[in-house]
Parts: sequence; C-alpha cells; structure tokens
Amino acid sequence: MQSWIPLVPDSASTFSWQVDALYFYLSGVTLFFSLLISSVLIFFVIRYRRRTPWEIPRPVAGSHKLETVWTIIPFLIAMTMFGWGARVYFTQYKAPADAIEVYVVGKQWMWKLQHATGQREINQLHVPVGRKVKLIMTSEDVIHDFFVPAFRTKADVVPGKYTTLWFEATKPGTYHLFCAEYCGMNHSGMTGSVIVMEPREFDNWLSGNTSSTTPAVAGQQLFQTLGCASCHGANGEGGRGPALAGAFGKETELQDGNKVTVDERYVRESIINPQLKLVKGFGPIMPTFQGQISEDQLVQLLAFFKSLSASGGGQAQAPTAPSPTQNQK
Ligand code: CUA
Repeated sequence: MQSWIPLVPDSASTFSWQVDALYFYLSGVTLFFSLLISSVLIFFVIRYRRRTPWEIPRPVAGSHKLETVWTIIPFLIAMTMFGWGARVYFTQYKAPADAIEVYVVGKQWMWKLQHATGQREINQLHVPVGRKVKLIMTSEDVIHDFFVPAFRTKADVVPGKYTTLWFEATKPGTYHLFCAEYCGMNHSGMTGSVIVMEPREFDNWLSGNTSSTTPAVAGQQLFQTLGCASCHGANGEGGRGPALAGAFGKETELQDGNKVTVDERYVRESIINPQLKLVKGFGPIMPTFQGQISEDQLVQLLAFFKSLSASGGGQAQAPTAPSPTQNQK
C-alpha cells in the first residue's frame, strides 16, 4: 500500500495524520523562509553590488526596532512548533487504560511478542483494527527500537527497564516493523510486520493460535516455584512481604516517606533490586532475582501481578489455578 505522496509511508493509525500535519507545517515554514531569504539575498547582491573599484559604502547604524522584530517573529514561530510538538508527543506518550496489552522482548536480532491471552509471535504482530493496543517492551541484550512507520510511532526498547508504546490502527493491512536503533551486525535484518485485521478475523486468529498458558497463569506458577508466595501470600494477599493484590496502578508509601506509583517499572525494579524502594513497614528481607529469571519470566510475573488487580471486565486474566488441560496442550 502506498500513500498519495511519494516517499511518505502509508498512514494507518489514529495519530499518523497529526504527525504528518506537524511535519508538513515544519517543512512549509522551512521552505517559506529558505525561499524568502535566498531571493532577498540574490536581490541584494545584484541591487547593491559595488559598481566602481573605489566605491565605499555608507556606514550603517543598528536599528533596535528591526532587531526586535526579527527576534520576536522567529520566537513566536518556534513556540508554535514547540507547543504543537509537545501536544502530539503527549498524545503518544501515555497509553490509555483500556488498551489491550502485548509484551515485547527484543533481542539480537528478532522481536518476540506475546499477547495477554498467551499467543506468542516472532517478528509478527497481529492486532485488531480500531482497538487501542499497548506494547510493554524490554530487551534481552542491547538497545533496540520498535518502529512502525505507517503508525508514525516508535520507542526505544531498553535492557533493564520497560518502555511502552501504544497505537490504534485505522485500516487493515500489513505494515513494516523496523528496528530503528543500530544494534549490531544484523540490525538491518531485524524487521517484521504488523498485521492489522478486522476484529472478527482477529478473534479467529486468536482462537486458532491457542497457546498452552497465558502469561498471567505462567506467572502464577512461577510465583509458587520461586517461593514468592511464602512472603506475599498464595494469592498475593500479603504477609511478611507487602500485599500484591489490588496494588497495581496505585500509589504506595515507601520506607523513606516518598510515594511511588506501582507500575510496570516499579514492579520490575522491585524484583531485580528489592532493597531499592522498600514499602513502608517491611524489612529488607527479599532476595534479588537478578540474573536468575529471564525477561520472559519477568513478563509473566508482571502479568500475574497485574491480574491480581484486575477488577473484572479488564483484559487481564483472572488468577485462576492452572487446570490440567491447560498443561497438556
Ligand atoms: Cu535491534 Cu537494531
């Protein structure tokens, strides 16, 4: 699929037109002043050229009025770019709460994705049209960057932390996915596609790709085998460690009196480096899990944690005990 302007990728997300409009505004302002300045320059070169070898120009005194004008006008123009750019940025920065979630792990040189319903994909992402989709991303090795030109959005994928990105696709189709951060020898081959489907097709796709367990259920199993339950309670109700049920998305008070929002980043940090931000009233008794669990397992624990705070209706899986049939599949 090609857009009507050559060199501009297809436009297929709710905010791609916003990015395009801003981009054309920047190009337009640049073009206007480039033409204005170069034509005035050429005109002056000819009009005020030295006509005899002995001609000495009249000295020119400065003009405050002129200087003020050519300071204020560019300042105002630059502020429109700043204000507009900030607005577009903030629209993209914060994912809406009702988005469906997909976990993304980048590694040299592939994209591994998993839906909240359990389906795994490599270098492909199937999403429904007209639904908000939030990606929770991290890397197993170096910095990568998830870039879908047709959606006009991209975000770095950084080892050791979670970054997020969201979009709502506006038309079905297959769109390029690129890694946009040089990440080693096969960086240019770290590509894939985002396949946008009609909701019904997407549901068919989901049910045709049943996976053994959802991340939340796998996380619950890990929660037991890693011994988390001995302090946080079998269902996250708390004990020697803080309660996990209902905690996600809320603020919690720390030992030092500061407050922190329990989000993806904080949960991850607390598993990797538990002593860093202790919850008020709890001792530094939790061991670190750095190097002992993989990014995939961290994602599963996070999904389980989030499912403990899902108040029905949400897309997170209820923390049901894994049934034998689920294990056999
Ligand atoms: Cu991954 Cu470039």
